[in-house]
Amino acid sequence: MAAKRYTASVVGGGWGGGLSMASLAASDRFELVAICDLREETCAQRKQEYPGIRTFTSHQEMFKACPTDVVCVSTWPPSHKPIALDALKGPLKGILVEKPLGDTTAAGREIVAAVKAKGIPMAVPHSLLVVAHGREILQRVRRGEIGQLALVEIQCAGWDIINAGIHWLNYFVALAGGGPMEFVMAAVDCSTRTYRDGMQVETMAATYAQAANGIRVIMHTGDYVKVFRKDKGALFRLVGTAGVIEFWGWESAYNIVNAEFPQGRLFQVDPGSVKPHQLHLEAMAEQMDRCKNDYWVAESSLIALELCEGAYISGMNRCRVDLPLSGFTVGAPWNWSPGQPYSGTGGGRDGRKLPQEDGAH
Ligand SMILES: NC(=O)c1ccc[n+]([C@@H]2O[C@H](COP(=O)([O-])OP(=O)(O)OC[C@H]3O[C@@H](n4cnc5c(N)ncnc54)[C@H](O)[C@@H]3O)[C@@H](O)[C@H]2O)c1
Repeated sequence: MAAKRYTASVVGGGWGGGLSMASLAASDRFELVAICDLREETCAQRKQEYPGIRTFTSHQEMFKACPTDVVCVSTWPPSHKPIALDALKGPLKGILVEKPLGDTTAAGREIVAAVKAKGIPMAVPHSLLVVAHGREILQRVRRGEIGQLALVEIQCAGWDIINAGIHWLNYFVALAGGGPMEFVMAAVDCSTRTYRDGMQVETMAATYAQAANGIRVIMHTGDYVKVFRKDKGALFRLVGTAGVIEFWGWESAYNIVNAEFPQGRLFQVDPGSVKPHQLHLEAMAEQMDRCKNDYWVAESSLIALELCEGAYISGMNRCRVDLPLSGFTVGAPWNWSPGQPYSGTGGGRDGRKLPQEDGAH
């Protein structure tokens, strides 16, 4: 029996929306019937690519005139929540919402809660979770092939915490076991006033976070980050107690050094022909077939979004941000300048006389 085919529409006709359109068109599980973009010229361009579709410049109009089984929300992050909540008012059977789920964790949580309340599955296209090399590396780490994972170092040039970094942090969440995060701290330089994909972002940043199980991540992002290997735009180093795996973002390869490969061994991985958005969408179609919803990817995306938001709060306020964010409040501005001489007056506490539980040596 042929698998059920679901109608689909896409809101946002740019890069992310284009990835969903191509995947919907390539899959025999979906029929792309409509797209919406604020810009007439984008609608016209997409209509040329997919002549059978209807186009709209307002998502409300599209949802009314052309309700579909699936909607892909592929606009800039601040509009994900209103558009997703409008989509959920219709006869939806599944929804894809692009990363970051919202411009804030609270917005992302509201979307996920509304999707769960409707009882339908949700896709969040974090590619590393589904591409062949990403899955293979995860399996090796889970099998203990580099011992106990201790540290993930990420270098990412030309991108920022919230747009590309969220993919990397999401992968860190998966590597660290998906469990809760303890805190995040970041130093954030914003001297060039860079914006990207509808968000103000850093010029350069260093983000440091720790999962509750002690596994740490250090992520370098920004316009001028020097990636350790020439010709790579991103680099990951997974440091375990008995080995190291290095890989380069989307490149379908990795190098492992461990007891079995003491000199290191480069694995080139066949990426297959199915694109990551299609893999995520088809996984959602299977959940729709079975009426059985798995929100793991959405939940891990929320944890990653919390790390991103926490990093920016930390950078702005010079403080450690304890997670979850819902229990965190920023204290009064610090009247304290580490690195300056202590005058002997003006309060503070003596770091040589900390109570044991404060982490004194
Ligand atoms: N998962 C991935 O690999 C991946 C890749 C690229 C982009 N993205 C995500 O996709 C989202 C969009 O980014 P992009 O790179 O496509 O940006 P983009 O600038 O290429 O395109 C965004 C499009 O959305 C349209 N738009 C904005 N607000 C709208 C609204 N209210 N209604 C209808 N159309 C609207 C704009 O006119 C524009 O054409 C972001 O969340 C981004 O992070 C994800």
